[in-house]
Amino acid sequence: MKNIIRRVFFLLGECLFVRSLNAAEPWSDGGITYGFATKSDYKRIRELYWTLSGSDFSRSQKCMLRLYINKQIVVAKMGAEVLGFNYYYRNLEDKKKQMIHEGYIGVLSSYNGKGVATSMRKYAHAYFRSEGLKGVSSRISEANMASLNSARKLGFKVIEKYFDAGMNECRYYLICTFNESDS
Ligand SMILES: CC(C)(COP(=O)(O)OP(=O)(O)OC[C@H]1O[C@@H](n2cnc3c(N)ncnc32)[C@H](O)[C@@H]1OP(=O)(O)O)[C@@H](O)C(=O)NCCC(=O)NCCS
Repeated sequence: MKNIIRRVFFLLGECLFVRSLNAAEPWSDGGITYGFATKSDYKRIRELYWTLSGSDFSRSQKCMLRLYINKQIVVAKMGAEVLGFNYYYRNLEDKKKQMIHEGYIGVLSSYNGKGVATSMRKYAHAYFRSEGLKGVSSRISEANMASLNSARKLGFKVIEKYFDAGMNECRYYLICTFNESDS
């Protein structure tokens, strides 16, 4: 019971935190627009998440996303088509470290290898840095070279390697700390 109450208070605090984030201007590069998602992107993002991971967002994630998708998910779009998305939230550890967690990144397979994931991460890092956060944490499977390569390029460093029994694979816990000199 105590844990449920703690969790509810934590989520309420996170609602206030996400609400307090400022709006961000989109970027355009090579016909692709990078920016935060709108409510009309939600259905397509869920479908893409399902296609790429076989998972759906949890109940609490869905509640938060219905309210704050425009502060939690970065999308890469061509016109109205969602090519990829990058989902951010915090857990208690991130909050203590004044960081944000990259919960998921996915790009349509037909657009892989074109730098879309890297650009979404760059956009998100510039934004969260401008909002005063100190960095981004992430968890990536050892076998996921595409995600690891893009993350390393952005400055993520491995903090811990561990075996995830639920996923039955080795994973890395990584952190990218924003430098004072980053633009
Ligand atoms: C991981 C993923 C998001 C990467 O998206 P992307 O837009 O193709 O990535 P980028 O093009 O920005 O960069 C990927 C980097 O990895 C490299 N790369 C791509 N596929 C690779 C592979 N199979 N093995 C090794 N490197 C690979 C690319 O060449 C690029 O590096 P480079 O710029 O030095 O050439 C995409 O592959 C994806 O959606 N995968 C399925 C979902 C997933 O696994 N998500 C990650 C969960 S943590």
